Amino acid sequence: MVKKYASLLSADASDYKKIIGDTEKKGFTGFHFDIMDGHFVKNFAFNATIIKSLRNLTKLPFQAHLEIENPGEYIDMFIDSGCQIITVHPQTCKLERELRYIRTKNALASVAIDPELGIDAVWGHKSLIDNVVVMSVYPGFGEQKFNEESLKKIKNLKKIIEENNLKITISVDGGINSKTENRVIESGADILIFGSYLFE
Ligand code: DX5
Ligand code: ZN
Repeated sequence: MVKKYASLLSADASDYKKIIGDTEKKGFTGFHFDIMDGHFVKNFAFNATIIKSLRNLTKLPFQAHLEIENPGEYIDMFIDSGCQIITVHPQTCKLERELRYIRTKNALASVAIDPELGIDAVWGHKSLIDNVVVMSVYPGFGEQKFNEESLKKIKNLKKIIEENNLKITISVDGGINSKTENRVIESGADILIFGSYLFE
């Protein structure tokens, strides 16, 4: 069964409480927070204080998607704010160190692969990874067009995960809507992250 996470980036911040309740009733299985620092991406979004204030509104898992430089410095902060899944980008950090650290904190170690990167950017650390986020848009903004090339990446990833008998889940982030949803699932995704489509 495919899981659905809601990315609150495009949601109305004045209404988070109701939105979280409604999204949970729709059968979503978790919430995705895009943390943006104005450096790694040219945008700002969320922080640990906001996430903490939303934490008691639901029991569903929270994923911190760290679209920031030096995410290793902030892993504790986001785990303490109530996130169970921490996602980092390999270009921003010492990947092995961060993945190991996330696991020592009993959170799920997750790594994002941007459109211009191949699976090889993370695959060397496969034994330390719980979840891969295939980015089907460039990180930084909601409402972008789904990158069709990412379907191949999802299929290849699924294949090698199965061949190696690994327990890594595949999440897909960006441009998920009624037109792309089924193709992403057929390609092998385990978790779909819905942003603007859900809140438009
Ligand atoms: C982009 C973010 C996504 C974004 C997805 O930097 O990582 O999580 O919220 O939004 P949509 O679904 O609008 O592409
Ligand atoms: Zn995201």
